[in-house]
Amino acid sequence: MNNEELTATDRDRVEGLLRSMTWDEKLAQMQVVFRPDLAELERWIRAGVGAIFWPRSAAAVNAFQRVAVEQTRLGIPLLVGLDVIHGQRTIAPTPLAMAASFDPDVVERTARLAAAEAASGGVNWTFSPMIDVSRDPRWGRVVEGFGEDPYLTAVMGAAMIRGYQGDDLRERSSIAATVKHFVGYGHAEGGRDYNTADMSEHLLRNVYLEPFRAATAAGVAAVMAAFNTIGGKPMHAHRRLLTGVLKDEWGMRGVIVGDADGVGNLVPHGVAADLLDALRQSVRAGLDVEMGGSLTDRGGRALLTSEQLPADRVDDAVRRILTLKARLGLFDQPYVPESAEITEPTRQARALVRAAAARSTVLLKNDGTLPVNLAGRILLTGPYATSTDHLGAWTQSFAAPAGSIAGELASRYPRVTFTIEPGAGFYDDDPADLQAVASAAAGQDLVLVFAGEPSHLSGEAASRSDLRLPGRQEELIRAVAATGVPFVVVLINGRPLVTSGWIDAAPAVLEAWHLGTEAPAAIVDVLTGAAEPAGRLPMSFPRSTGQIPVYYAHENTGRAATTGGTMRQETVDIGLAGPANVAEKYTSKYLDLELGPQFDFGHGGGYTTFRHTNPRLSADRLSRAALANGEQVEVSVNVTNTGGRDGDEVVQLYVRDLVSSVAQPVRLLVAFGRRHVTVGETITVSFELGTEQLGFWDTEANPARFTVEPGTFTLYIGGSLHSTQELTFEVV
Ligand code: NOJ
Repeated sequence: MNNEELTATDRDRVEGLLRSMTWDEKLAQMQVVFRPDLAELERWIRAGVGAIFWPRSAAAVNAFQRVAVEQTRLGIPLLVGLDVIHGQRTIAPTPLAMAASFDPDVVERTARLAAAEAASGGVNWTFSPMIDVSRDPRWGRVVEGFGEDPYLTAVMGAAMIRGYQGDDLRERSSIAATVKHFVGYGHAEGGRDYNTADMSEHLLRNVYLEPFRAATAAGVAAVMAAFNTIGGKPMHAHRRLLTGVLKDEWGMRGVIVGDADGVGNLVPHGVAADLLDALRQSVRAGLDVEMGGSLTDRGGRALLTSEQLPADRVDDAVRRILTLKARLGLFDQPYVPESAEITEPTRQARALVRAAAARSTVLLKNDGTLPVNLAGRILLTGPYATSTDHLGAWTQSFAAPAGSIAGELASRYPRVTFTIEPGAGFYDDDPADLQAVASAAAGQDLVLVFAGEPSHLSGEAASRSDLRLPGRQEELIRAVAATGVPFVVVLINGRPLVTSGWIDAAPAVLEAWHLGTEAPAAIVDVLTGAAEPAGRLPMSFPRSTGQIPVYYAHENTGRAATTGGTMRQETVDIGLAGPANVAEKYTSKYLDLELGPQFDFGHGGGYTTFRHTNPRLSADRLSRAALANGEQVEVSVNVTNTGGRDGDEVVQLYVRDLVSSVAQPVRLLVAFGRRHVTVGETITVSFELGTEQLGFWDTEANPARFTVEPGTFTLYIGGSLHSTQELTFEVV
């Protein structure tokens, strides 16, 4: 059965309920409440609240469902929501890390696992995935999303939705997904969480809305409104976007839920006089579920009257909520089998997240030091050598903990002599002894530095203004480098970091993010070569914080620089030939910084090498009419594993529309594929190119429309952003 369709019985049930519900009962349904005090929660349920946060066990869910189903007038079962972000008991890598896998299958399978674990405990609704594009790594919530690119985010978001929702929401192991935060939340000014996110309609349509459009097409059950304003209008009151775009233009049939107290926040935003005014504006704008419990008092009495809210808007909201409950099969089966609750990871679950973790690692640089042969005497240093903080910013206390890397190494390599000398902690005032590290390094065969950001430095309300390694970790790496002993740096962090203070001194650097429950095992797998680090960066790593935002899909500007970073006085000869001949001085750059990021989007190495040859197109031109008819051309390239071991290559296809009515990005990712290639083997990788890949949202048109303009496109296909394999394609 298609998720979107209800059986005739369910349709009758929903309409029958709607007819018999009082105003108070309707408004009570339109709330999701979080109350740690379970006695208080029960009072809300008796008053008819429609949704609760997970009360922490299958037995508790059943008890509350029993109150709702058997002891309220209408017997409507509860939605039971929770932030299941990248795992429930068994924790997978953070979404940002999984984006680095460039493997939607990793995301789908780990989401399926999370859904099964959460559903077994009675959760039927998750507030995930977060599909906010963000180009600002100061924003701590980049860890919860899929990075800077709208296409990668859209693909990964859709994969996560498929994982949570399965083929049918009625399956016991399926839960309803929520995409968030609609919309623009990742564009917070200055990267400061909750901040204003103003932007043009062009940017909104072409970048920030795209993943939400894809999620709607993928049949997502719910959408969460964002905390930010756009054009001065907070999203919780943004009728044009919530109702106009999401519901009317895209036909989103699920529910729009507010974020925690997001409605109440309209008052400090300065657009609502008081809470009731805020509620009135939000529901009118299209919000279906308020998060917090402000529409009714605790006795379930509606705080707004039918004069303050249009009855058909309220009916539409309640119909959406009841429809979701029906799609989940809750009217037929509100209870979960308590004996089947999964409370800890199974062996298969551990194996799945361990493989996902290894696939999410990115080899930032390597002079051949990696993979390492773990033998002899090895010094382990850095705060992450012994830390167990691997789960990431958005996990709950009941998640299965991770061990430490030092513990993993000691148990797997009992004959190796590991010395642990932490050197520095995460914070400036942590005890640090760099001299001890330098002394301990003498006579060692290898030093492994485990550095990074503790998980609470990313996530919600965790923006940073300085993206260097915190504490004295940079000094630690430099101190290790000064010893001359071969070393590897493993980074464990929730966002792109500024590495310029030490990166040149490091022979090999592995980006390992927060990889979840099996992080230590996966990191050791990758360090030793038992697994391949073949992920690619889903966000650019800046050279300095002052350079942010720095992202690959930028416009060319009228004055693109070819060199940057000189503070010397330049001689400028304006000449008579016009702006094209203006000397390099008048170009878009920083005087004190090289051009571009330290590491680009799509960057990452591996333990083997690849050659891309014979890029080709099935046709080098197509008419707009043919494109409009759905015709596509095929772009192909041969990929040969030229190195000494089997490995994965991430083939990336970028497009540039050379002349367009509005400036286009210098490169735009339109397709990618991660492929396994054995030594000496050559495979062919092909992608389809059609309207979706060649078009853009023309926001000068009214209404905005997706269009392909005639002209020449350059296609870049290869293993990185700077692939030299170019093709030309014409739209006529
Ligand atoms: C606030 C966060 O912004 C949102 O992502 C989350 O789902 C809710 N809190 C509920 O925990």
